[in-house]
Amino acid sequence: MTQAYLSASQMRGGYGKADILNDCTITVERGQIAVIVGPNGAGKSTAMKAVFGMLNLREGAVLLDGEDITRLSPQERVRKGMGFVPQTHNIFPSMTVEENLEMGAFIRDDDYRETIAQVYELFPAVADKRRQNAGELSGGQRQQVAVGRALMTRPSLLMLDEPTAGVSPIVMDELFDRIIEIARTGISILMVEQNARQALEIADIGYVLVQGTNRYTDTGKALMADPDVRRTFLGG
Ligand SMILES: Nc1ncnc2c1ncn2[C@@H]1O[C@H](COP(=O)(O)OP(=O)(O)OP(=O)(O)O)[C@@H](O)[C@H]1O
Ligand SMILES: [Mg+2]
Repeated sequence: MTQAYLSASQMRGGYGKADILNDCTITVERGQIAVIVGPNGAGKSTAMKAVFGMLNLREGAVLLDGEDITRLSPQERVRKGMGFVPQTHNIFPSMTVEENLEMGAFIRDDDYRETIAQVYELFPAVADKRRQNAGELSGGQRQQVAVGRALMTRPSLLMLDEPTAGVSPIVMDELFDRIIEIARTGISILMVEQNARQALEIADIGYVLVQGTNRYTDTGKALMADPDVRRTFLGG
């Protein structure tokens, strides 16, 4: 059997003594887009934090490219190739766009100007605002800055927790197009989304998470076509 690029298997853990995740398994193949959907409070963000090392697991293991990273800190995981955009507080609002990107390069001691140029190429709207404070940008542009910041370490796995939260449908489509573009460069994407239909449409694999456990796992297309999934999680 070939090993998935990211394999987070049978995760159990939570906050304090309470388990939020129970037998939760998430895998992502190289260059593919994996999407986690599910109701509010299902544990989607908790699963992302577990994969990124912000949560001590009581059971389960996280493997990246075959290497067991279960005991590594988030910062060590960044060095291994993970980039994470959290659901909230994912930019420094009182710093400029460019300073945000420079902060993103914190683990690099080489010349990262080319990566900044690539981020600006991907998101021309934020390039125009590079000298403005990130907090002054629109919601969609702030999310672009957050994604750009995560790209500064040149991750092989980019994790996004609700990148389209609070943006208009047009901005959402645009952001999804950019995410597809990022995946085409060989970067694996693991994304949590409230906009379940639109996200599953671009997903190579989709996970429906309920009460911290996998309820449905299939290709995005198959989940969209599943009557139970449609009725219960996609609004019919
Ligand atoms: N820091 C924390 N300390 C204690 N409990 C928490 C903490 N963060 C989340 N929880 C609880 O864990 C459960 C799962 O939360 P989580 O944020 O992972 O859900 P989610 O699926 O991301 O929800 P949403 O769709 O609202 O973002 C919820 O019951 C929540 O109240
Ligand atoms: Mg969440």
